[in-house]
Amino acid sequence: MHLAAFLNAGPQGTVGWRHPDAGDGFLDAEHYVQIARILEDACFDLAFVPDSLAVPRSLGDTFDPAVRWGTGTPRLDPLPVITIMAAATRHLGLAATVSTGYHEPYNLARTFATLDHLTGGRAGWNVVTSFQDAEAQNFGQDALPDRTARYDRAEEFLEVTARLWDSWSDDVLIRDKGSGTFGRPEEVSAIDHDGAHFRVRGPLGVPRPPQGYPVVIQAGASPSGRDFAARWADVIFCSHESLESAVDFARDIRARVAARGRDPEQVRILPAATTVVGSDARDARRRHGEFVDLVAPEAGLSRMAYHVNVDLTEYDLDGPLPELEEVGVDGHYREILEFARREELTIREIGKWYGARTEGNMVGSPTDIADTMERWLEAGAADGFMIQATHVPAAFGDFAGEVVPELRRRGLIRSDYSGTTLRDHLGLRRPEPGEWRQRAGSQRSKELS
Ligand SMILES: Cc1cc2nc3c(=O)[nH]c(=O)nc-3n(C[C@H](O)[C@H](O)[C@H](O)COP(=O)(O)O)c2cc1C
Repeated sequence: MHLAAFLNAGPQGTVGWRHPDAGDGFLDAEHYVQIARILEDACFDLAFVPDSLAVPRSLGDTFDPAVRWGTGTPRLDPLPVITIMAAATRHLGLAATVSTGYHEPYNLARTFATLDHLTGGRAGWNVVTSFQDAEAQNFGQDALPDRTARYDRAEEFLEVTARLWDSWSDDVLIRDKGSGTFGRPEEVSAIDHDGAHFRVRGPLGVPRPPQGYPVVIQAGASPSGRDFAARWADVIFCSHESLESAVDFARDIRARVAARGRDPEQVRILPAATTVVGSDARDARRRHGEFVDLVAPEAGLSRMAYHVNVDLTEYDLDGPLPELEEVGVDGHYREILEFARREELTIREIGKWYGARTEGNMVGSPTDIADTMERWLEAGAADGFMIQATHVPAAFGDFAGEVVPELRRRGLIRSDYSGTTLRDHLGLRRPEPGEWRQRAGSQRSKELS
């Protein structure tokens, strides 16, 4: 079972900062170093830092609720955050979220290749296409481009990035002091890419990364998001309201991966799991209840509106949630719909639930939580979990101190690292040079051949 930790570069979750045991150091390096050490001592595969490029404005077109309640803001830049965590650890994988909508492939390929070298192959990139109008408005656009346009750009972005990583073969550097020969120019090539979105000559100014390609993570849940993930992702992060929907999702993803000619065993699916650990089920429920009490419905609503990129103040908050057509994060919206239909709640009530939701219902004793995780693994819904602490660093400490020993006792997780790179931890092979051809859409492969 693989373990990742979901860690905001800012306050955790909707109300994590309000928890009596929460630290308030999210602007300090020491906060991230402390968490990195907890995770490495527990032999987590990786820490994962999400991101957003705006202060959310989805509730009433104002940033007031986001700032007032601390929902989705502030967000430090994840790249320096994971760099600091990397310097304090030796094994832990480190992944940062960077949007294909508002960066250029050359910068991105260079930054992640650099990180992969400096960390000895521990870097991961969470590829997102972004989901808020507020983000688009920070980069010269009036609104978020539609999903097709976003994935179209993302597809070309990944192709260019992977080609840049491959633009140096694995053995360019000779560094022969005697002859003065530094490297083999015949092992480096330009890429001469000229596409709809990018023109990039190449080669990259950084040698091929130790992992070949840093680990590519993806969380798009719409049909286009799933196809994109099936082509490019090594790790798929998702979020589900029930075991049944998680099983359906995993089945669908594996089928899409196989249809693309990739090995479904070379893709790891990690559903989110917010764990609340107690000495027994009752104690855990009490702790969870105390946490839920911290959530103001407006704070939950603000977070929900931000994730679905729809101004919910346009609807009657004491009425049912209407069917929304174009939403921001499809995966979160499906989860919300499934829950709202089952429980027949008003928008306001759903907001309260959303602010404190605990995916996978992992509230219980260490044994209960390990049982649930094992059930999800056996059902084929997961290869591991993205642990979402309710408050940090304490809830990661609870998980590491109480659930990890139980998982180890069952032989489900490692007690020591055996490999050195993030791909080693995840059991993923290193991509061969040129593998981008196989991953790029079949249409592109045809054009290129
Ligand atoms: C569990 C989960 C976590 C996500 N984390 C981020 C994030 O940190 N930053 C971001 O911009 N998008 C994030 N997303 C959004 C997606 O990666 C994707 O860009 C968005 O959902 C639109 O694609 P879709 O419609 O295919 O889902 C997340 C989505 C899910 C389901």
